[in-house]
Amino acid sequence: LKILITTGPTREALDPVRYLSNRSSGKMGFALAKAAQAAGHQVILVTGPVCLTQPEGVSLHRVVSAQEMWEKVQALTLAESPEIAIHAAAVADYRPKAVQDQKIKKHSESLTLELERTPDVLGSMRSIFGFKGYLVGFAAETENLIAYAQGKLERKDCNLIVANDVSRSEIGFDSDENEVVLCFRSGKVEHLPKQTKETLAQEILHRILVESASSQA
Ligand code: CTP
Repeated sequence: LKILITTGPTREALDPVRYLSNRSSGKMGFALAKAAQAAGHQVILVTGPVCLTQPEGVSLHRVVSAQEMWEKVQALTLAESPEIAIHAAAVADYRPKAVQDQKIKKHSESLTLELERTPDVLGSMRSIFGFKGYLVGFAAETENLIAYAQGKLERKDCNLIVANDVSRSEIGFDSDENEVVLCFRSGKVEHLPKQTKETLAQEILHRILVESASSQA
């Protein structure tokens, strides 16, 4: 199968030397890409800025901002028609409304930034990009994990949301291990215990392949 995966953070420029970003390392998405490639699938990986090397046999596309990720994913979805799309990227929800041409100087004691919404890559998959395949989103939450994840499942028209609790410092963002809850469209909820992102990626991928095969049958 052809599988499109997004991963990593995005960077939203403030001026030529500064940006807003988040702590995502991209490890989960890269682990998913490696697992899918090793299982014989054709993998298209779209990543924000990360310190990870290109997995062998994977088609890698590097982007910086949410806008660039949105455009790259749109182009690849239309050109490649993947059967499965997994959105593990921690896309910035807001960006500075104006990007300054010159470095911002410290003129006053405080500075207020005005932010605007970025385009929603996952939320555009069906409504704008016309994606018909099996759609997986991630949800990083600090409270009400399952309820918030189920809301995203509906709002973004996904088949599955992989939810993780980012309030726990020993797992998730930037860590080598994670623990997640899978919330399927059917209403089924499955807990995958704490383990390395490599084995977790295999477990998640296995369930995606089983579910996507049965949803097409
Ligand atoms: N996502 C995306 N583009 C964005 C924001 C998020 O593709 N601009 C994707 C992420 O890759 C992830 C999921 O959406 O798969 C996470 O959604 P999130 O931003 O947490 O959900 P929201 O419904 O916007 O809720 P919240 O209020 O928690 O931000």
